[in-house]
Amino acid sequence: MISEIKLKDLNAARFIEEKVKEISDTVGTGIAINALSGGVDSSVVTMLGHKALGKKLRTVFIQNGLMREGESEMVQNVFRKLGLEIEVIDAKNEFLDSLSGVTDPEKKREAITQTFYKKVFGRIVRESGARHLLQGTILTDVDETVAGIKRQHNVFAQLGIDPNETFGYHIIEPLVQLRKDGVRAVGKALGLPEEIFDRIPFPGPALAARIIGEVTWDKLITVRKATAIVERMLCDSGAFQYMAILHDDRVTGIRDGKRDFGHQIEIRCWDSLDARTANPTKLPFEVLSKLAGKIIIEVPGVVSVTYNITTKPPSTIEAV
Ligand code: XMP
Repeated sequence: MISEIKLKDLNAARFIEEKVKEISDTVGTGIAINALSGGVDSSVVTMLGHKALGKKLRTVFIQNGLMREGESEMVQNVFRKLGLEIEVIDAKNEFLDSLSGVTDPEKKREAITQTFYKKVFGRIVRESGARHLLQGTILTDVDETVAGIKRQHNVFAQLGIDPNETFGYHIIEPLVQLRKDGVRAVGKALGLPEEIFDRIPFPGPALAARIIGEVTWDKLITVRKATAIVERMLCDSGAFQYMAILHDDRVTGIRDGKRDFGHQIEIRCWDSLDARTANPTKLPFEVLSKLAGKIIIEVPGVVSVTYNITTKPPSTIEAV
């Protein structure tokens, strides 16, 4: 049983001190490695690890082809300013190959988990000689996996998987007692810029969590463009999280007086404190109309834009 540290009980400075010591003691004279995705959790872990281990921590950004527009460049720039060099590893083809023909949501997650931990990251870890892997699992990831809602792609021990046996390395999870609000507070105290510590959450399976049905290059291009528009237009909404989802089925539309059998994008925008429950944000209709207008013009092939008005539960925040 993991003991939760609630935001109100969190002393960020003391937490950092304790975790830095724990990481440093666990890794000892060896080296550790971590994968940075640019999300809040992995960014905070990167800073904690860097503080604890300095050059003994190798941080990689795995380009899995499922990331948002400009993500690897943005992440490299932010961390370079903080004095950290991030290595970008191109593994697009391996991820896309593993997702080919897979439509079931849990199987998609499993394909990404296996490709990430066993193939791509597993290879990098083996080649590096690192015995320790730092990971940004938070309590909400554990809860939802244990409850059988969704298998979060970074949760192992709680599923009875021993990473040491399965993947050949030991996992350190310094954030596992926190929820998102606590992670943000720690990120701020670590000196991360606001654009990172206050960034909206983004799922481990990345844009694959926002494509219903099979993940293909074409669908990724579509959902990536729509995501960029939604993020740009809703960044001042104050919402907890906002996203574009690409549906699998097509609908009939009209363009230039002709039938256009096209894609459907669903916008979701959530008010939430910790992602365990969420309500759709009451966005003004004019904002929604503007979003639809921009998506229809800028994202080729889209003829329908909808807004989700369901609460979590029974919905979940991501679609897959
Ligand atoms: P759900 O969709 O389960 O998401 O309501 C809860 C929060 O966790 C974020 N998140 C993930 N969601 N798979 C997910 O489905 C993951 O691997 C993952 N990692 C993070 C999600 O974006 C939402 O904030």
